Amino acid sequence: MARCLLLSRTSLPDEVVTVLGEQYPKDAKTNITSSILSKVSRKLHLQPSHPIGILRSLIEAHYPSFTALSNFSPVVTPAMNFDDLSFPLDHPGRSLTDSYYINAHRMLRTHTSAHEVETFAKGIRQWLLTADVYRRDEIDGSHYPVFHQMEGARIFSHDPSGIRELEEDNARLAARLAKANIVIEDIPHVTATNPAQPSHDPRHAELVALNLKLSLNSLILDIFGGRANAGEGEPLRVRWIEAYFPFTSPSFEVEVMFGGKWLEILGCGVVLQSTLDKAKVPNSIGWAFGLGLERIAMILYSIPDIRLFWSEDPRFLSQFTPGQIKTFKPFSKYPACYKDVSFWLPDQAMHENDFCDLVRDAAGDFVEDVKLVDAFTHPKTKRNSQCFRINYRSMDRSLSNDEANALHAQVVSRLKNVCVYLLVRVDHVRTTSNTIIKPRLLHLAVSPVTLAHGRAALEE
Ligand code: PHE
Repeated sequence: MARCLLLSRTSLPDEVVTVLGEQYPKDAKTNITSSILSKVSRKLHLQPSHPIGILRSLIEAHYPSFTALSNFSPVVTPAMNFDDLSFPLDHPGRSLTDSYYINAHRMLRTHTSAHEVETFAKGIRQWLLTADVYRRDEIDGSHYPVFHQMEGARIFSHDPSGIRELEEDNARLAARLAKANIVIEDIPHVTATNPAQPSHDPRHAELVALNLKLSLNSLILDIFGGRANAGEGEPLRVRWIEAYFPFTSPSFEVEVMFGGKWLEILGCGVVLQSTLDKAKVPNSIGWAFGLGLERIAMILYSIPDIRLFWSEDPRFLSQFTPGQIKTFKPFSKYPACYKDVSFWLPDQAMHENDFCDLVRDAAGDFVEDVKLVDAFTHPKTKRNSQCFRINYRSMDRSLSNDEANALHAQVVSRLKNVCVYLLVRVDHVRTTSNTIIKPRLLHLAVSPVTLAHGRAALEE
């Protein structure tokens, strides 16, 4: 905890955090960084010509009778994000290393399910909710600490009229899918390991799970059909997998075959009765799903790096048109420049996500990825050191080695605030071909890096 306090103090010296114009007092749980705060107001899902906004509209158009919601504040209570959804107290998602806390009482939502109770409580029985969500994570081409989810939910009455509505909808959706060029690998709707809830009639729970599956298969057909790089006449392939979420049972994940690989695109299940009880919705049963919009947009538009969604470069933004999905044409890929940094871990240890946030806060979207390349324990003192490789690359221009050095110096300077002593810096430069990178060791003329790292630690 002390460590996280220290990390946030380096970037936000004041005693309050301001999020969307509201001020919140900091406390020992505060771990939100200024780089994350700068993203909160962007609201990519509300921009009609942004790929995330376009995808939102396409999915909303698929569910014309659902209420579309997209203006919920990302600031929620831990109760909304976790407790109301029956997350156990020791669930890892609650930890400071996984989530961004404004203070002990407020956090940035980690998923759109955080709004299930309040939305059901409004009496809305079928809805779609799109929002930005925040998770502390590693840094690479497909992970970004802010992304967008769309939550969909539908509840039916527990009485014969609800059963009839389900049966009719299931027949309609099944007939549509039967005619389509789609191959679905299914699993049983309800099993001993993926059970119906005790308060549910198992037959009714089966009908709801079937409705969820048909409804999502039909959405997937709409957005991926003919676009999955499967080859001329090849069917779209979808597979259902048993899953676990604290707030649904049975629960499932869905994968789509795209370009020869299975890609997970969503999680879903039958809503836990306790969630509906919290929302004071009597006599109802239903389903919910949550899908990751960046994941789907990267696949559909062939967008190679998740950082591009945050680009304000007209060469990116001008390629998208509302209502249309066409392949993104990458503008030239600018050269990367990687630099290593090694350091003794602070006494309280440092989680990799803490390091990634520190790097992101210092160097922003110039960081393409961060990899742990070596870890070392001193045989006598038992102190631990780690060596990380940070890959710097700009998405819209060529970054000079001097600029990369300046960014790296920022990282090193912030590290000095949390680590007692920095071991050795290993610098790398580009060759003139702009693609091959050659190591130039500043401190020790030893290669490879891992060896340099270990030796330096021993020479301490
Ligand atoms: N909220 C879950 C996630 O972020 C997805 C989900 C939504 C699962 C609704 C079940 C029901 O992973």
